[in-house]
Amino acid sequence: MQINKVCCFGAGYVGGPTMAVMASKCPKQTFVVYDINEQQIEKWNNKQYPVYEKNLDEYINQTLNTNLIFTCDIDIALKDCDIAFLAVNTPSKKYGLGAESSLDISYIDSCLQQIKKYPLTKRLILVEKSTVPIKTCDYINAVLRDKNICVLSNPEFLAEGTAIQDLLNPDRVIIGGAIESAQQLASLYEQWVPKEKIIFTNIYSAELSKIVANSFLAQRVSSINSISIICDKIGADVNEISQCVGSDSRIGNKFLKTSVGFGGSCLKKDLLCLIYLCESLQLDEVAQYWRQVYLLNEFQKQRFYNLIITSMFNTLRNKIIVILGVAFKANTNDTRESASLMIIQKLQEEQAILRIYDPQGKIDKLEQCQSLDGIFKGASAIVILTEWEEFTKIDYAQAYEEMAKPSYCFDGRNLLQGEVMKSLGFLYYGLGRI
Ligand code: NAI
Repeated sequence: MQINKVCCFGAGYVGGPTMAVMASKCPKQTFVVYDINEQQIEKWNNKQYPVYEKNLDEYINQTLNTNLIFTCDIDIALKDCDIAFLAVNTPSKKYGLGAESSLDISYIDSCLQQIKKYPLTKRLILVEKSTVPIKTCDYINAVLRDKNICVLSNPEFLAEGTAIQDLLNPDRVIIGGAIESAQQLASLYEQWVPKEKIIFTNIYSAELSKIVANSFLAQRVSSINSISIICDKIGADVNEISQCVGSDSRIGNKFLKTSVGFGGSCLKKDLLCLIYLCESLQLDEVAQYWRQVYLLNEFQKQRFYNLIITSMFNTLRNKIIVILGVAFKANTNDTRESASLMIIQKLQEEQAILRIYDPQGKIDKLEQCQSLDGIFKGASAIVILTEWEEFTKIDYAQAYEEMAKPSYCFDGRNLLQGEVMKSLGFLYYGLGRI
């Protein structure tokens, strides 16, 4: 079967950038991104992207309305379609059995209902691009049993902030499912990804590998954060430890930076999904092992806001606190599950006056400053929650002059040089270093 047309359900952080890169690399195929949210589609069509990613505009400019279409019309998406990606959101379930741990696949389900109703005229390869609970493929097959479809799992491994780079040069592309269809999907990737990076697996392995990869990443963050807690007690420096330990090639140096805790839409929910899977399989010891990774992350956030409150003598009321960063990490506008959400809430409970700034991230219903101009005037503390490069370039000597005294700086990303900040007069606190 010749692949001519591809569609994608979901024009979010994954669907938009993934299809833009695919369209630019596969000029002979047409790519249609379909979403039920009209505003979302309008933004893509008007180049006011709902997603902030470096170089994204370059790929949209190359392809939009040439072989890349954004639409809310299901007919434009599914008519004569050969491959349909499902890239809709799969958040943690908020209700009923498995609440706060199992993944909610109701958005996947709504796509299936739309496909079920649609009169397909040819065989459709349906690809799970969203992160889904194990065996979702069986559920899809059961729902669409009367349809001429083949289900594949092709999880997405892009990281927000480096999405375009990750899509252009993926470490690997995993395709699980029947080999004939898997090869047809691979024929798209082969237009820019070296063949040896495309891994064919059974479909359950592909589904599980995504959940496992994110759980391993979460585990590394919690591991180094646990060491930061020891460092705080004994006066060792966690940054030095990361460097020493990470230079062992068996360990590697990525994801070894201590922080106020991992956030984002994926790590927590996918880790919880693994825990839920273990619990449903009655693997209690395995579930407890992974649950500790989650609990340590919660503890690290708590530890940080307790540090702020206790260092300021438990009197934040009416004090001005400058929050630098709400995005869950630098180079993205995504604030989902950001550690800043909990910390901001705790500081609000202390009745502090918050001045919040992030170059891209916006939190709903929260007043934010548009720039850093005048932000430090009269403030008692600076709290760094996102590692934006812009925050390293601030003139902290000038900020110190403008601030109330004593002037605190709580660096939840170990972004600044502690010694330099102290020499300027700040009461500086990082994580896991003196
Ligand atoms: P998102 O929330 O940014 O986008 C999802 C989009 O799907 C929304 O625009 C929503 O309106 C749309 N949608 C919901 N139901 C629909 C339907 N029935 N038909 C058409 N569109 C529908 O989600 P995001 O971040 O793109 O994530 C998508 C999936 O990819 C999730 O499973 C996530 O776990 C996974 N993933 C996310 C990554 C990330 O960095 N955000 C990285 C790798 C995987």
